[in-house]
Amino acid sequence: MTTKREFLKISLVGATALSSVGALSTALAEDKSVNHVNETIDNKQTDIVQKPVVVSTWEHGLSANRAAWQVLSVGGKAIDAVEHGVKVPEADPSVMTVGYGGYPDREGKVTLDACIMDENQNCGSVAFLQHIKHPISVARLVMDKTPHVMLVGEGALEFAKSQGFKEENLLTNKAKAAWQDWLKESTYNPVINVENHDTIGMLALDKYGDLSGACTTSGAAFKMSGRVGDSPLIGAGLYVDNDIGAATATGMGELMIKTVGCHLVVEMMRQGLSPEQACIAAVERIAQKLGDYKKFQVGFLALNKSGEYGSYCIQSGFNYAVTDKSGEKLLDAKSILS
Ligand code: GLY
Repeated sequence: MTTKREFLKISLVGATALSSVGALSTALAEDKSVNHVNETIDNKQTDIVQKPVVVSTWEHGLSANRAAWQVLSVGGKAIDAVEHGVKVPEADPSVMTVGYGGYPDREGKVTLDACIMDENQNCGSVAFLQHIKHPISVARLVMDKTPHVMLVGEGALEFAKSQGFKEENLLTNKAKAAWQDWLKESTYNPVINVENHDTIGMLALDKYGDLSGACTTSGAAFKMSGRVGDSPLIGAGLYVDNDIGAATATGMGELMIKTVGCHLVVEMMRQGLSPEQACIAAVERIAQKLGDYKKFQVGFLALNKSGEYGSYCIQSGFNYAVTDKSGEKLLDAKSILS
């Protein structure tokens, strides 16, 4: 039971976090291109737990959520739901930012990053993995079968093969053509919301009240060989704390790495912020710390222990999919810039 002293402490921590969101908003409000963040805060809090529920980034999240819902709706665990769910865009060549059919690096190689985290703080991750269509399932096996959290490159590939995964060519003709077109100029100016960090990050709360998350991507199109983004980095592209909530991210991974963005979102929820407020606080941290943030897109998506969700991003255009007992929907995230 919470004592009066503990309650006061929790309230004060929450108030501090809220006022820091407001203070930074004031500073950013002097910039005409920045939305008035306080107006966007959704401060709903409820004691009613909405479960199960699954949320994921971008429109491709709708089909991914459907696969996750097949697991959640029959009493399956969140960790199995998120793995099952993100495998859909991983296998879909029309999604050119995740798995098979993803844009290659500037050497023409498709290199994949993924991580997964469960309700017991277990996590697994792979980075710079080539030739394997489902990096999320390799990450799951790193979590379940090794004493480690992260395997990269050749080591990750050898591990995958040892677990029965087969090597495949992941470079489709369409992605190859896009790369050959890019080679003509060879300039690295990623087009916001298009070219293309639209990772799938998925968070689920199951009927038992447990949270898990998964994140998987082919990373930045035409990146330098060896570049690893935020998506396989626990704390940057994904974080789960089963006492509090979970967060995932999409967009220019370097910005999430520099701010350990998803860990920040979860810690903000711990201090009493709603999922949307916590995402706002993380985007504002990026805006405050990283002067060139307006050139990039970053979107955070969060889900708390009560099944409440929220999102926020730098540029308009980021959306996310939500699936629960009432059905599925695609929502536009609010943004710091119009
Ligand atoms: N957010 C995906 C990446 O930057 O690689």
